[in-house]
Amino acid sequence: MSTNSPLLHAKGVSISFGGLRALNDVHLQLNHGEVVGVIGPNGAGKTTLFNAICGLVEPDSGTLELDGHKRNWPKPYELVDLGIARTLQGVGLFPELTVLENVMIGAQKFAKTGLLSAAFGFDVRDEAQLRNRSVTALEKVFGTTLMHRRADTLSYPDTKRVAIARALVSEPKVLMLDEPAGGLGPRDIEWMNTLIRNLTSTMSVLIVEHHMDVVMSVCDRIYVLNFGEVISSGTPDFVRRDPGVIAAYLGTGAS
Ligand SMILES: Nc1ncnc2c1ncn2[C@@H]1O[C@H](COP(=O)(O)OP(=O)(O)O)[C@@H](O)[C@H]1O
Ligand SMILES: [Mg+2]
Repeated sequence: MSTNSPLLHAKGVSISFGGLRALNDVHLQLNHGEVVGVIGPNGAGKTTLFNAICGLVEPDSGTLELDGHKRNWPKPYELVDLGIARTLQGVGLFPELTVLENVMIGAQKFAKTGLLSAAFGFDVRDEAQLRNRSVTALEKVFGTTLMHRRADTLSYPDTKRVAIARALVSEPKVLMLDEPAGGLGPRDIEWMNTLIRNLTSTMSVLIVEHHMDVVMSVCDRIYVLNFGEVISSGTPDFVRRDPGVIAAYLGTGAS
């Protein structure tokens, strides 16, 4: 692994849906140990960009480099192998199972969808090892006190932690979060930001977020999308003061 190359570099990404150009020549770079945010008003193209990197939408043009190596846009089943993990909006836990079982099943699901167990660095059918990995992932997000609780007894913020723990079982190099603060109050946003910062010792994090305030304190750099184009990028302080960004947000009434 070359630490000089960006961990992930998307270049010139364009995607159209019918006549609608959702992304136009978008560049995004994620370096080792960084937390990078993609923000922008509703409809700006954030989720489309996220989906392209996760292999859910194939770009019309543009290239992807991982660790300095150009490669095809990934298929969803290749993500674990590439060291990419994601959580999606809508948490999707099994209500009647425990927290630990939910985290373990998340990992097993990868195996059943045709993923090579080798991508995890172990055989996910080895239940003891899967359990150890799941416990370790849970320890990272909130200790193991709630491990044996049924998922349907958890508070909403706690279900979000479980979803993140599930993504960590594969020990990704890149963790992608779509609106991680969605539905959280100010105190829970604070712990989410602290958790995300703590993860950067072992991975980089890419956050897609509608509300600009919630990512300002957690991100090293931010890209601002509007109508499918990057209208500003830089440190949170830089983009916060950029008149073009302020105008884009005021224009839609978004915060
Ligand atoms: N599958 C799709 N088919 C048609 N249009 C889509 C599709 N996905 C997104 N779009 C359109 O692309 C634009 C960008 O959407 P999206 O990436 O979801 O924005 P954001 O996440 O920033 O709110 C919007 O105009 C949206 O309506
Ligand atoms: Mg979105």
